Amino acid sequence: MTPVTSHGTDALRLKSVRFTWPGGRFGLDVNEFSIAAGETVFLYGPSGSGKSTLLSLIAGIASVDAGEVSLQGQVLSGLRAAMRDRIRAERTGVIFQMFNLVPYLTPLENILLPLRFAPERRKRCEDPQAAALTLTRTLSLPDPMVQQAPASTLSVGQQQRVAIARAMIGHPPLIIADEPTSALDSDARADFMHLLFDQVARSGAALLMVSHDRGLAENFDRVVSLSDIARPIRGDTA
Ligand SMILES: Nc1ncnc2c1ncn2[C@@H]1O[C@H](COP(=O)(O)OP(=O)(O)OP(=O)(O)O)[C@@H](O)[C@H]1O
Ligand SMILES: [Mg+2]
Repeated sequence: MTPVTSHGTDALRLKSVRFTWPGGRFGLDVNEFSIAAGETVFLYGPSGSGKSTLLSLIAGIASVDAGEVSLQGQVLSGLRAAMRDRIRAERTGVIFQMFNLVPYLTPLENILLPLRFAPERRKRCEDPQAAALTLTRTLSLPDPMVQQAPASTLSVGQQQRVAIARAMIGHPPLIIADEPTSALDSDARADFMHLLFDQVARSGAALLMVSHDRGLAENFDRVVSLSDIARPIRGDTA
């Protein structure tokens, strides 16, 4: 796959970003960081260095104090909150460390959730239910489990598959994954990475995966140390 390097079509771009958590003890300063369309990037750094903080800014869990975050050339800062949320829902799929499924909903209902906030993603599916089942079948989850069981009754390995499907549904151009394998043994970790790469390759999405486990880095197009792209801002903790 030939990565597109034009800034206008980068899946993600951060420019002159500055952010500090409320309380002022920790923040990040990012001069420039971009991910091309379809590019897979592995981001590593020690615990507490700010990896999840960076992903929070991209996923919209936190907002930058200064600078720009763009998704596919659309600058988010300056837009009204509702519009920012809408663009994020349309253009990013997120896999959290503990998968964050809604426990009393079925896997199918969990997978369809992001489409509620992203009409373009929904339109791309034509038939969302059929698209969800295509994903879960590809991920070897049996239909009755997907359609009937509450997500809380699934094993961790099954939940991770549901989380991949939820991130991928409707083909968002950027997938963000924060330590998605930290609860898994090494066999399950290898399976997870295989499924994730398979799904990303099928949809042509870019992938930003964060981990402190550099053993997972080998199949990525680019491996980046957080310290190479971001300067920590540490407040006075006295
Ligand atoms: N919601 C928050 N409010 C205030 N401070 C926070 C918040 N989340 C993280 N921090 C602070 O930001 C710093 C970096 O934490 P972060 O979670 O980004 O690190 P990390 O690199 O993801 O670490 P780990 O590998 O352990 O997940 C920490 O000092 C933490 O206390
Ligand atoms: Mg983290």
